Amino acid sequence: MYLKSKFLNEEALSKIEQLISEMTFDEKVGQLHQISLSSVGAFEIDEETLKQMCENGQLTKQEYEENLSKSRLRKIGEDGVRLGKIGSYLGIADPKQIDHFQKIAVEQSRLHIPLLIGCDIVHGFNTVFPIPLAESCTFDDEMFEKSASVAANEARAAGINWFFAPMLDVARDARWGRIAESMGQDTYLAKNYAKAKVVGFQGDDLSNESKVAACAKHFVAYGACESGRDYNTVDLSYEKLHDVYMPPFESAVNAGVASIMTAFNDINGVPMTANKELLKDYLREKLKFDGVIVTDASSMKQLVDHGYCEDGKTAAEYSMHSTVDIDMVSNLYRDCLKELVDENKVSICEINDAVRRILKLKFALGLFENPYSNMDRLKEVSCADEHIEFEKQVALHSTVLLKNDGILPIKKEKYSKITLIGALGADIQQNYGCWAWYGKDELAVSLKSALEKDGVDYCRCYGVYDIDEAQMASALDDSELIIAVMGEHKDMNGEAHSYADITLSEPQKRAFEMLVQSKKPFVCVLYNGRPLCIPEMNEHANAIVEGWALGTKMGDALSDILFGRFNPCGKLTVNFPNKSGECPTYYNHMSTGRPAKNDNAPWTSKFDDSHVLPLYSFGHGLSYTEFEYSDLTVSTGESSADITVKVKNSGCCDGFEIVQLYVHDCFASRVRPVKELKGYKKVFIESGHQKVVSFKLDYDELAFHNSKLEKIVEKGKFEVFVGGSSINNIQSEFELK
Ligand code: BGC
Repeated sequence: MYLKSKFLNEEALSKIEQLISEMTFDEKVGQLHQISLSSVGAFEIDEETLKQMCENGQLTKQEYEENLSKSRLRKIGEDGVRLGKIGSYLGIADPKQIDHFQKIAVEQSRLHIPLLIGCDIVHGFNTVFPIPLAESCTFDDEMFEKSASVAANEARAAGINWFFAPMLDVARDARWGRIAESMGQDTYLAKNYAKAKVVGFQGDDLSNESKVAACAKHFVAYGACESGRDYNTVDLSYEKLHDVYMPPFESAVNAGVASIMTAFNDINGVPMTANKELLKDYLREKLKFDGVIVTDASSMKQLVDHGYCEDGKTAAEYSMHSTVDIDMVSNLYRDCLKELVDENKVSICEINDAVRRILKLKFALGLFENPYSNMDRLKEVSCADEHIEFEKQVALHSTVLLKNDGILPIKKEKYSKITLIGALGADIQQNYGCWAWYGKDELAVSLKSALEKDGVDYCRCYGVYDIDEAQMASALDDSELIIAVMGEHKDMNGEAHSYADITLSEPQKRAFEMLVQSKKPFVCVLYNGRPLCIPEMNEHANAIVEGWALGTKMGDALSDILFGRFNPCGKLTVNFPNKSGECPTYYNHMSTGRPAKNDNAPWTSKFDDSHVLPLYSFGHGLSYTEFEYSDLTVSTGESSADITVKVKNSGCCDGFEIVQLYVHDCFASRVRPVKELKGYKKVFIESGHQKVVSFKLDYDELAFHNSKLEKIVEKGKFEVFVGGSSINNIQSEFELK
């Protein structure tokens, strides 16, 4: 059985067949129809009451109109659910609302079929975790899994049973706003992340009261959009598709992911929601994915905008032939399937198959037993102490120390006055990042409030879009050390927020100039959801701490790092370009015929006006201690190689190190990347101590796709690199015979 659940037994399977045989056509289509609702505020208010409230002056005309449309939406939803014409909801997270609709579905609809309630719980529910790009910097599969299971536990108690996560788009272009939702640019890390997230969300029984169905998205290669512009086209060789973008989805399927979302993009001219070859032939038939396929929001309708389908009806037809089960808010299955079946363009068998997959998921989730929220559990688990404590740990491990000339950790006694500047650092909304809606503000800690406990003053001075130069000048004047928060407002990354220029905003550039001119020591803390181009910061700041959007306890985590109560250990999962024009830049690029050895090598593959190396490379991240690598050994076996290395903490304090293993296939029948991550281990080493770290490199990991799309491993020489980043490492090699 594809889905793991104690409820998905023989009896359930026959109940499903019975239901399908009893369903009217409209009820079947209802299961495939998903609508969205944002009715917060108007939920319990009917049209008549709203009218009275407006007349009494309790609502302004504008509020009245907004609430009226919400109230009407709610009414349409209620009627649709009652008639069995809606199978799932998108984006409701209020337990009261969820229960209200579930009750109508279960008690008032003819066949009593519960609803799927899908939500974008991308990095935590009430306990907000670091954005995925930040969390990926932990290189910690256990953390990936545990943060997913905390989110599932809290959200399921609220009645949400389906997450539109994990996002598994390998993302290599910093201009793309959704890089914030990704786990960065590496396929090997993405595969592990995929598995950990699916297991964390779903556990080993979907009906468990603390588990939800996961949805791996966006299938596939959405992250490869041209020029990092969101929703843009993708033009990709099939070899690269299968080497780089497909493996995380395969990993999710192997881990038993319950559902997959189609991507907005086309690949080589075929939009994904109608991409029969990749959905039906590859995902279903080759990978044996038997779960639910859902479109992205309106992506079925967008097949017409793509110019791939002449009208909505054809879009519904092509989607159905591609085995897409649920139409997210395009309403095209609802409006067109009847006619398509009457015209023999879509068969009832295809529709039955889709209904069957959806019902299986509903049974697996145990929704026929209990579809409701559990308020007692919610009270108990929502932001439970251990969740919040764990969130802070993830935040600590996600933070990356990009530069440090020794000023960090801050020695309080050295400075009579330390000032935090920059509005981002005082705003708890920035903790949450691009995809968190349900955090609890009363628990969130800004950097400002955390640093107050360390005696640090705050002066706003500038925001992302404004600067008060007089205030800035006086703050600089009377401080001995400045902590400057800079970067992006949380709404500058995430969906639909692509930027062609990924440098700081003008007011922040001015603030930075003033900092440099002041000649005062200063530390920059970055708030952002993408790599930024900050070469001047790298040149002039005494230290740079990459803080991303770290979730509920962001402020506490950053202050612990600034003051040395925690030794930073995060490592980047994306390159930071020197200039926006370098995008996309990724460490695991293909070998070229004219590799650039340095910035001045003429006629080589480089920019005349920039550097060969990125500002910070994948895997980079400093610590307050030093790690030395030695004695790299490689011994080859039948199906794997054993690799060991000695890592010594030769610095002054204890710390974690993320030991990274990279491989380069020296000669192959296709050009191979210059280096690829093939292993990582996080180890804690006390100051003055040494550990032997070992890896088992399965030869399967050396595989790539040939032009027939066969996955092959070729014999020959492989270089092995081990170290604390993708560029700083020691080297060996082996021969695969
Ligand atoms: C996004 C998806 C998301 C969906 C539902 C879309 O616009 O691309 O990632 O799951 O909306 O909110």
